[in-house]
Amino acid sequence: MSNQASPSPYSSITELDAQHVWHPFTQARTAPEPVAIVRGEGPYLFTESGERLLDMVSSWWVNLHGHAHPAIAAAIAEQARTLEHVIFAGYTHAPAANLAAGLAAQLPEGITRIFYSDNGSTAVEAALKIALQAHYNWGSVGRKRLIAFTGGYHGDTFGAMSAGRTSGFYAPFLDKLFEVTFLPYPATWQGDPDLEAKEKAALAALDAALGEDVAALIVEPLVQGASGMNMLRPTFLDEVVRRVRSAGGLVIFDEVMTGFGRTGQLWAARHLGEAPDLMCLSKGITGGFLPLGVTAASEELYRAFEGDSFAQAFAHGHSYTANPLSCAAALASLELTLSADTAAHWERIGAAHAQAAQELAAQPQLQRVRQCGTILAAEICGAGEYGGNISLELRQFFATRGLLMRPLGNVIYLLPPYVVTDKQLRVAYDAMLDAARQFGHPA
Ligand SMILES: Cc1ncc(COP(=O)(O)O)c(C=O)c1O
Repeated sequence: MSNQASPSPYSSITELDAQHVWHPFTQARTAPEPVAIVRGEGPYLFTESGERLLDMVSSWWVNLHGHAHPAIAAAIAEQARTLEHVIFAGYTHAPAANLAAGLAAQLPEGITRIFYSDNGSTAVEAALKIALQAHYNWGSVGRKRLIAFTGGYHGDTFGAMSAGRTSGFYAPFLDKLFEVTFLPYPATWQGDPDLEAKEKAALAALDAALGEDVAALIVEPLVQGASGMNMLRPTFLDEVVRRVRSAGGLVIFDEVMTGFGRTGQLWAARHLGEAPDLMCLSKGITGGFLPLGVTAASEELYRAFEGDSFAQAFAHGHSYTANPLSCAAALASLELTLSADTAAHWERIGAAHAQAAQELAAQPQLQRVRQCGTILAAEICGAGEYGGNISLELRQFFATRGLLMRPLGNVIYLLPPYVVTDKQLRVAYDAMLDAARQFGHPA
């Protein structure tokens, strides 16, 4: 075993891990032993015991260009030798300024300001606080209510939990969460006969919720990730944005998962005619190398915090805000993301997924097949619900096929790094079809 902090009596990473590590989103008693990964290359991860796993979930949706990509690794190493960190209040540095400019150039028109934090939850937390304080600074003190969609997931800090309380993870904390109005989410899939009715009901609920007290609406644009890759029509979301705006509310797009190309465009927002006031980015931002969160805001919102007194400022920040190594990684990853090669990958994966979606839809044990860009999902009929043991069993099934997949309950999905080949995708499609035969019943 390498990389030991001190001599250890344990002979494997997993043995040592079992003594001291507390894993996220894991029931230690029932979960299988974690798999120790020692190396990554392209879409592959290599285990301590010498097996090779094809990463079809981009390692919690963060990797874009393959594991241990040399250009990003080199950018981090160079930055580490130059400046590893500096307090970001009163000081700045080239990676942060360049990254802010690089992102602003790509963000929807009017979104000009970049507020840095550390992960998706903190990017959301900052967005919620900016929205609430902007109304406060404008003197519209009654605008305090947030609107969100049922099933949305926005992270694990308290504001993010409040906006995502229906995601089902937060029972011990419910009495500590602030009130949010939830709208029905008109999820859609191939051959969905009820879409118009669902959208109409959601818009009626939105109209009923809108009033002088609304501060903002937060939404995962086009795809709700954690609740099971549930997808929306862009025309519906455009209508939602228009209605919230005309009622005086702000719109927050949580693009923590959808950002950096997952939907086949750089942002989900690029599929829409309307633009948000705030956008949350993280996950893919550094190509999966280092933690970093961004809350991008309109110039109008930024100006709402200007004034002669500190009381109007956004008194919020973290020790590692705009860490130079993370910003350098993000700059290197952005350059790769904006290349013609990456755009070609989005198109190629999207086309392969679209074809595979037809095959999945023809499989009798699968239902609600849906696709958005590089994300493909389907539900296994009769295979148990979200939160049950089925996701663990499916995870193990896919592992026996050499695949790292992490089903969300009975929802099996692919969200691969963009360097995945057509042949590797075929392996995953076949495994999805086999999983349906083994675990499902005809609908
Ligand atoms: C849409 C969305 N927002 C926020 C988060 C929280 O991000 P993090 O886990 O980096 O805090 C997630 C994580 O899955 C997410 O999918």
